Order: sequence, then C-alpha cells, then structure tokens
Amino acid sequence: MSVAKKQYKRITVKSLIEMKANKEKISMLTAYDYTMAKIVDAAGIDVILVGDSASNVMAGHETTLPITLDQMIYHASSVIRAIERCLVVVDLPFGTYQGNSKHALESAIRIMKETGGHAVKLEGGSEISESISRILTAGIPVMGHLGLTPQSIYKFGTYTVRAKEEEEAAKLKEDALLLEKLGCFALVLEKVPAKLAQEVAESLTIPVIGIGAGAGVDGQVLVTHDMLGMTHEFNPRFLRRYLDLYSEMTNAFKQYIDDVKSVDFPNDKEQY
Ligand code: KIV
Repeated sequence: MSVAKKQYKRITVKSLIEMKANKEKISMLTAYDYTMAKIVDAAGIDVILVGDSASNVMAGHETTLPITLDQMIYHASSVIRAIERCLVVVDLPFGTYQGNSKHALESAIRIMKETGGHAVKLEGGSEISESISRILTAGIPVMGHLGLTPQSIYKFGTYTVRAKEEEEAAKLKEDALLLEKLGCFALVLEKVPAKLAQEVAESLTIPVIGIGAGAGVDGQVLVTHDMLGMTHEFNPRFLRRYLDLYSEMTNAFKQYIDDVKSVDFPNDKEQY
C-alpha cells in the first residue's frame, strides 16, 4: 500500500516527532559501512542505525558486548560519509555509559565529534537515567531502547520475548514514560508483545520504533543483513526477508570460481 507522506529534504529528530503526529510510519535500518549506507539512504530510509549489532554482523561475535567505542566510531564515520538525507543514530556500546554519567557524556561527545552522527542510542530505563540526562544537557539527541536489550543478555539468559509477565510489563511502561520525560526523542522497543508495544506507543508523544513489537508502533527497524537474507542462520518470527542474498551471493561466488578455473574469465573484452 502506498501512503501519502510529506517530503523531507533531510530527516531530523523533529521530523520523526512530526511523522508520529501525522501518523506516518518511520522506517529504520542498520548500516555499518559506506557502501551499504549509500544504498539504504538513496532508497529513502528515514533513519540509519549504526547498531552495536555490528559486533555480531560485521565481527562475528556471539553478543554485542565486545564491540568498542573506537570500532563504533569507525563504522559510524563510514556511514556518515555516505548519507545525504537520513538521520543517523549511533549505538553507545556496552561499558561506555552505564554507571557513570560523566563517562557516558564523554562517550557520546566522542561519537558526535569523531563521526558526525546525529544522535546516540542507549539501552535501559531508570537505571541509566542520570547518563541520559547528562548527555541531553550537552544538546545530544538520545534514542532509548527497552524490552530485549541485547547488552544485558547475560542477565536475561536468552533472546526470548520480554515483558510477557505483568511486573516486567509495568516496569517497561514506567521506563518508557520516564525516557520521554527525560527528553529522549524516540524509543526502540525490541521483542515485546504487540499489545504492550501498542499501549506504550499510544501513551507517548515521541515515536516508538519496534523490532519484533508488532504493527501498532510508530515505525519499524530491522538489521539490514537479516532482511536481505545474508544471515541465513538467524530466523526469528518477526524477521521478513526481502531477498535471499545468501543463495544469490553463493551462486555468484561459485560461478566466479568456475569461470576462473576454466579460464572463461577474463575473456578477450575483459583485458587490455
Ligand atoms: O544494534 C542494533 O542493531 C539494534 C537494533 C536491533 C534495534 O539495536
């Protein structure tokens, strides 16, 4: 279904809040490098997230915990060089903002100064409210992230749906209201029941962007490598694959290998 939408020359945090007010859904995808970011931006995405999922997708780690601030800065500055229109949000990695708000501000300032990114994202609610407030005092826009927060995987034990029980759902609703009150411009809700996510979205004026959080929120985010079908071992229910690039790429690589071995490549026109 095609939807009437306002044309934005550049997306800002204000545009996202306006989109929610106008009931226009927000599209967000991850990117970690120049080439991918250029394609995603040119396709018209609203937000690129330089996610700490780079730890899994780009570096092959089992969790998001090992990625460093320097590595996030490398990824984010590559993305920034590619984009013309979208808003770029950069994850603060594990260990750079929890527990010490001064450290959190220093980490966020490094992201803004050294990458040219437009906003930072932090995982958690009341327990990191001091860090969020301090970053906001420097004029740095903050996106929150609640529900399944992968930096806390060893506390959860599994990547299953969060906030199915009343107590955790109530804490999530409180945290969402708190993040809005502190001044966050948007919130990611990851892997929570659709009904709860819709309730949270309806209780806030800032946009709620879901991943595995149903259709009742204000926008959607996916990991680009997952939606392109490059990471074929990851199959959560919420993931829609728009391509099967794993197979496409494998076939192309096999064809290339055959062509090299059989001296079909390069042909007369492909040499000097
Ligand atoms: O790091 C990431 O890719 C994320 C999304 C899953 C929201 O935080």
